[in-house]
Amino acid sequence: MLGKTVFVFLVAIVYATDEKVRYDNYTVYKIFPNNGKDIEVLSNLQEKDFRYDFWSEAVPGAEFVEIMAAPADKAELEILAKDYGMKIEIVMSNVQDVIDKQKVARYTSRNIKSMGWDAYYNLNDINNWLDDLVATYPRIVTSIIGGSTYEGRQIKGIKISHGSGRKAVFLEGGIHAREWISPATVNFIAHELLTSNETDTVAAARDFDWYIFPVTNPDGYVWTFENERMWRKNRRPVAFNAIGIDLNRNWNNNWLRIGASAQPISDSYAGPGPFSEIETRTLSEYLRGIADQLELYLSFHSYSELLLLPFGNTTVPYANYNDALNIGRRAMGALSVRYGTSYSVGNIAEIIYAATGGSIDWVKDHLKVPLVYCYELRDKGRFGFMLPEDQILPNNQEVMDSVLDLIHQAKRFGYMSGQRRWP
Ligand SMILES: *[C@@H]1O[C@H](CO)[C@@H](O)[C@H](O)[C@H]1NC(C)=O
Ligand SMILES: *[C@@H]1O[C@H](CO)[C@@H](O)[C@H](O)[C@H]1NC(C)=O
Ligand SMILES: *[C@@H]1O[C@H](CO)[C@@H](O)[C@H](O)[C@H]1NC(C)=O
Ligand SMILES: [Zn+2]
Repeated sequence: MLGKTVFVFLVAIVYATDEKVRYDNYTVYKIFPNNGKDIEVLSNLQEKDFRYDFWSEAVPGAEFVEIMAAPADKAELEILAKDYGMKIEIVMSNVQDVIDKQKVARYTSRNIKSMGWDAYYNLNDINNWLDDLVATYPRIVTSIIGGSTYEGRQIKGIKISHGSGRKAVFLEGGIHAREWISPATVNFIAHELLTSNETDTVAAARDFDWYIFPVTNPDGYVWTFENERMWRKNRRPVAFNAIGIDLNRNWNNNWLRIGASAQPISDSYAGPGPFSEIETRTLSEYLRGIADQLELYLSFHSYSELLLLPFGNTTVPYANYNDALNIGRRAMGALSVRYGTSYSVGNIAEIIYAATGGSIDWVKDHLKVPLVYCYELRDKGRFGFMLPEDQILPNNQEVMDSVLDLIHQAKRFGYMSGQRRWP
């Protein structure tokens, strides 16, 4: 009996090691298009050639596009850039090196204070920490389940509430698996709301119900720790040799209209239909259940240092767009105070790229939540998805400053009290 257990254990280890994808000598390039034609060349490459991993989008207005290439495909990319006279720079010459330097810590002590802000944590540790928050603050924090996943996991979260009848703020983290700073940011906001003595933070915690989900794509997040650091989608097999749907292109709002792919192998594959995925379907059902309470919805991604507003299909503003824009701009002013980090603010289609099927568009359009934003956190491309550990805390602090200011500004504009609804 014992012998058999040991045997199975060893096989599992060997299998996992074999499966771990390495990025030795993978290079990240910055390519600078000169004009619309260059953008088209790059955007064609993004749509048709899945050997390259586009870390940023080839869209009109992009100053540069960041692309990761495997050693065998580098020469071709360099030649393409040269052929079109596009400046090309190396941002990282060996992605595996950067991955190896990333620090993953363990949360084991069952003391909530031992969760640090100088390392990243795997899904189990985050979930254990959430359980310990519930145990530590039983009268304020409850465990909530936002949905479930293809591999049978739960989308775990917490609700912070000091009593009934309050309006709510929703925090959605980790829908794109490789954007590790996103769950770290959401965790920090929860931590501050529960432990800070700072007046504004205490008030924010007391005045609103907080629905907090650090990892809304748990299967993908686990995969980035155990197998493939650069994974973005969920983990459902969809076609021969193709796994995963981009959960932030799968929401039922202008699904597959623009900025999403119909190709299963693509990193922005929108899925076989709107809400085809259990993760988006169950999370959207959960959201419907609390829609009347929601005043502010925040989704966290990385990277680029942007604050995005709906919609992704059009630059035509919605009814309270100007309020939302002004509130967002002021909050990004507050974000910049601590470390000088400068976020741009604007509509998705206008400042980043037209893309539909994202969560914030659905939340805005279907649930009529007054204020809905998407953060693209640090940095601007130097480390991209591998934001160094010494930037986790500064990132988290400045974002916390901005979240408090979002609430402050929203109140000044007459929001957060349920008095005013988007038509
Ligand atoms: C990476 O490149 C270096 C320098 O060209 C080379 O020595 C090394 O063998 C390469 N590593 C792998 C795993 O390909
Ligand atoms: C907040 O106040 C409590 C009670 O006075 C104190 O025990 C705790 O250390 C303070 N926390 C911080 C972060 O200052
Ligand atoms: C964009 O999407 C919104 C929300 O679904 C819709 O109201 C609007 O008509 C769409 N605009 C265009 C140009 O497709
Ligand atoms: Zn993202």
